[in-house]
Amino acid sequence: MPDLLIEQLYKSYEIRDESLSILRDISFELSVGENLGIVGPSGSGKSTLLYIIGTLEKPTSGQIQMNGQNPFNLPETSLAAFRNEQIGFIFQDHHLLPQLSAIENILIPTLAHGRPSTEQTTRAHQLLDRVGLADRRHHLPSELSGGERQRVAIARALIHEPKLLLADEPTGNLDRSTAESVTDLLLDIQQDSQPQTMMIVVTHSSALANRLQQRYELDLGQLK
Ligand SMILES: Nc1ncnc2c1ncn2[C@@H]1O[C@H](COP(=O)(O)OP(=O)(O)O)[C@@H](O)[C@H]1O
Ligand SMILES: [Mg+2]
Repeated sequence: MPDLLIEQLYKSYEIRDESLSILRDISFELSVGENLGIVGPSGSGKSTLLYIIGTLEKPTSGQIQMNGQNPFNLPETSLAAFRNEQIGFIFQDHHLLPQLSAIENILIPTLAHGRPSTEQTTRAHQLLDRVGLADRRHHLPSELSGGERQRVAIARALIHEPKLLLADEPTGNLDRSTAESVTDLLLDIQQDSQPQTMMIVVTHSSALANRLQQRYELDLGQLK
């Protein structure tokens, strides 16, 4: 069985008395160590699909299985813990907290259980080093460049050694050369993660999608 199974996902939004169909019959699978890119124009449903896979949004029908488990069958509090521990999110606009330093931002996902452990703090420093920012640990997001902020966001996504990394337009706000180096980092870090992780990237950039092992297009709500 694949480590991640997406089966016949449909999503529609009911707006007043109209039903707006966004995703239709999306199925694919992924195994540990693999990565996949989904390209599509703005409005094609990429973020919606990623949020459903990340359990932030419920599908209208269809199912997700991660390690043989359907997370939507979990009670709400266990689902939140599942999401926090098994899934790492990277967004277009970093979503770092402005009042926290780089190292504190990386530790945010650990705060669900009170203070970070010594191991988690050590790991946060290792990750900051891994993304090339060891000497920026006390900088606030406003004191970092766009590419550096995205590197901190990547480190934060990895703090719990997630099974699945989900990236929504991770290079969308970066200039071309910064986008390339952030892409290099993302791919390297996924490939050498221990234990190995899976990664799904949605983007309108074919430069980014072309670097991934599998590539799909989202067109009129369907994967091609
Ligand atoms: N909560 C919502 N309610 C209604 N329509 C939505 C909602 N979220 C997204 N949509 C619609 O779904 C479509 C796809 O949006 P999105 O997934 O953000 O696309 P993309 O990320 O590819 O730009 C858009 O037409 C958007 O208007
Ligand atoms: Mg989007």
